[in-house]
Amino acid sequence: MIDKKIAAYIEQHTTDEDELMYAINRQTQLTTYYPRMLSGKVQGKFLEMISFMIKPKYVLEIGTFTGYSALALAKGLQPDGKLITLEVNEEMETVIRKNIALSPYSSQIQLIIGDAIEIIPDLKNTFDLIFIDADKEQYTDYYQMAFEKLKPGGFILIDNVLWSGKVIKPSAALEKETAGVVALNKLVAEDPRVEQVMLSVRDGLLLVRKLPEN
Ligand SMILES: C[S@@+](CC[C@H](N)C(=O)[O-])C[C@H]1O[C@@H](n2cnc3c(N)ncnc32)[C@H](O)[C@@H]1O
Repeated sequence: MIDKKIAAYIEQHTTDEDELMYAINRQTQLTTYYPRMLSGKVQGKFLEMISFMIKPKYVLEIGTFTGYSALALAKGLQPDGKLITLEVNEEMETVIRKNIALSPYSSQIQLIIGDAIEIIPDLKNTFDLIFIDADKEQYTDYYQMAFEKLKPGGFILIDNVLWSGKVIKPSAALEKETAGVVALNKLVAEDPRVEQVMLSVRDGLLLVRKLPEN
């Protein structure tokens, strides 16, 4: 969505990925059908920073893909902290487990293969930080479910909230995925239990804070 030269400038002025993150990024580009689903260098570094700032004990991720963002979010975990990541596509399991095993966080990350909609209600933990990055049609369901599992004062980060800019098209012209993102953005904007900021990082990130009294 942004000028290519500006995007290159942003990349140049962002700290490089470490060796493992670079390798996962590269391998994802070369071996998957939709490599643009991966967060990438700039967003990955942003997720790391958020994690370092919050120092979460429990993180939940909805939508693992190849494990890139899970590893970024794991970086700021407390020493006894835990990250649970959910992925519905069982074909990704081997590569995710391999990538997690190569990291220093393997004992802190739990991968659950299955449909997040079925898994989340049974999770016992409440979370300091939840990253929503799965299919867009179910974004409002993920948000409602995530909210129930979020600690008061906790944060939800939601990816792709600008959806390549399609969110500002007239509503009649929206396809299902865009409609899902638009509905989510409206739901959060009208939710009195939270405050939020929409950021134009990559494809749009929505950072939501659950007000402590909720
Ligand atoms: C955009 S990718 C995630 C990218 C990853 N978070 C990253 O930044 O590298 C979305 C992933 O969500 C998964 N997914 C879609 N629907 C899901 C569901 N209902 N439950 C769990 N995972 C789901 C897809 O299979 C896909 O791997």
